[in-house]
Amino acid sequence: MGMTTQATALMRAAVVTRYGSPDVLAVREVPRPVPGPGQLLIAVKATTVSSGDARIRSRRVPPGMGFLMRLALGWNAPRQGILGSECAGVVAEIGPGVTRFRVGDAVVAFPGTSLRAHASFVCLREDGPVVHKPASLSFEQAAALLFSGTTAYHYIHHAARVAPNERVLVVGAAGAVGCAAIQLARLAGAEVTGVCSAESAELVRSLGAHAVIDYRREDFTQSAARYDVVIDCVGSTNYAACARILRPQGRLVRVVCGLWGQLAAPLQGRLSGHRVIAGVAAERVDDIRHLVAQAEAGRYRAVIDSTFPLSRIAEAHARVDSGHKHGSVVITLDDPS
Ligand SMILES: NC(=O)c1ccc[n+]([C@@H]2O[C@H](COP(=O)([O-])OP(=O)(O)OC[C@H]3O[C@@H](n4cnc5c(N)ncnc54)[C@H](OP(=O)(O)O)[C@@H]3O)[C@@H](O)[C@H]2O)c1
Repeated sequence: MGMTTQATALMRAAVVTRYGSPDVLAVREVPRPVPGPGQLLIAVKATTVSSGDARIRSRRVPPGMGFLMRLALGWNAPRQGILGSECAGVVAEIGPGVTRFRVGDAVVAFPGTSLRAHASFVCLREDGPVVHKPASLSFEQAAALLFSGTTAYHYIHHAARVAPNERVLVVGAAGAVGCAAIQLARLAGAEVTGVCSAESAELVRSLGAHAVIDYRREDFTQSAARYDVVIDCVGSTNYAACARILRPQGRLVRVVCGLWGQLAAPLQGRLSGHRVIAGVAAERVDDIRHLVAQAEAGRYRAVIDSTFPLSRIAEAHARVDSGHKHGSVVITLDDPS
């Protein structure tokens, strides 16, 4: 009688139905978000399956963190079943009051811990972690800039405060965070050594590393060299093992660290004048702007390991689970399936 019921618009999304192996992922039709005041609706063109997404899906976390993770994220399944912390796409709709973006603008965004980027559309505040995508970057390249980039930037600039001419050792140099750390440490003026497999030595050198150590042939903790900063992106070491290779005022950054390591970090190394840094990297909009500007200027790039359509996201998760990806695993949303 003159009233119409507006059908809810749908979109495709990869949903984690319970914790487990990659086959817990289902690509489904789910309600499309509606942009509220000050929000953008972004049509996602590319996103990534990060090591963080794979950790949430599998509930595979550093020792001691399992209980806390279930409390924070959900007991039997993640409360937010649509993962994905970074993406690039096009503004499809704007909510009331939006002034900085227009429909059709290409953007790069970092939903971060609020996730939801493994979908055709995601909503974000215009004053939040979203910036215009440089025309020189493809959607795939732009989508892979920020998970690894913000993590590395947090530890190198805000936590360890790497200074020009310092010597930095990056362990896990070929992973997504390692590739970012090598480049950002170089941009900070450091002399950088990467610890990686022989297969990825060329990649790591191409990102700016002055030297590489093959972890399968040499134990870097027994090296004669000394470093101002050691950044462990693998979780393969600890302060006791690294103390001898740290210079006075040296910092050990434990990007991957169990609960006891995190609790002990503030006390460790004090007597030797060292500092141990652990904990979760903070998400800052200014860091995002800085990283995208560096990428636009050609000084920083995302390394892409492999690319899968959304319909094959389980294979993408399996690649991340291998622990041997080099850079980021990208998901594209162009396929109609
Ligand atoms: N604290 C935080 O806030 C935070 C934020 C983001 C990420 N993270 C954590 O940081 C870690 C790294 O993330 P990511 O995305 O860079 O992971 P990733 O891309 O999966 O890194 C794996 C890399 O590690 C290398 N590798 C494996 N074993 C190694 C060893 N013993 N020595 C040196 N390199 C080794 C592999 O290289 P080869 O194949 O060549 O061996 C591979 O390239 C993850 O555990 C993630 O959960 C923490």
